Amino acid sequence: MRVAILVSGRGSNMAALIDAAKEPGFPAEIVAVISNRPTAGALDIAAGAGIATAVVDHKKFPSREAFDEALDAELRGHRPDIICMAGFMRLLTPGFISKWEGRMLNIHPALLPSFKGLDTHARALEAGVRLHGCTVHLVTAEMDAGPIVAQAAAPVLDGDDEAALAARVLKAEHKLYVHALKAWADGRARLAGDRVVWDRAVEAPEALIWP
Ligand code: GRF
Repeated sequence: MRVAILVSGRGSNMAALIDAAKEPGFPAEIVAVISNRPTAGALDIAAGAGIATAVVDHKKFPSREAFDEALDAELRGHRPDIICMAGFMRLLTPGFISKWEGRMLNIHPALLPSFKGLDTHARALEAGVRLHGCTVHLVTAEMDAGPIVAQAAAPVLDGDDEAALAARVLKAEHKLYVHALKAWADGRARLAGDRVVWDRAVEAPEALIWP
């Protein structure tokens, strides 16, 4: 499976996927990394790993539709089977999403449907939850609401601040995204109606990750 990754920033999730895909037998190959921000650190990491990179700078387009058309054209050039959004901080238009729906994964730093949107860790601390975490889901036109592929939990510890909690969740994100992409790419996880089903229970890499 050919995978293109969309990024906007630092790219630690992207790096986790790139590293995993280097392993022999991994069912996906990372063929391109595309950023909407020219200064994203992710671009240097990807280039260093020998992966094709491109920038589609949203500031250079007069509308969301125009940006999405350019992004779509760039993506098509790489012929991806799967698009992984990894810290990609743009909302995409329904027109764009309809072209790729069912083939786009995103990682969100919360246990959806709790804490959709931004500042998830601050809001989890504010709410006093004891379990927080992250979710890999399919991208649909409604933000952070597509079918859930897999989730990983991370505890909220007494005394946590936003940075400490974010770091703990980020570690879980890296494992979860690799786990979910692997299953999605080799067809063990797939869409059935509006749910993702897994062929059989798989050996999860961490007790708090299921399936
Ligand atoms: C991650 O927490 C991701 O879940 C969120 O943005 C952050 C991106 O981090 N959407 P990185 O660029 O993958 O390091």
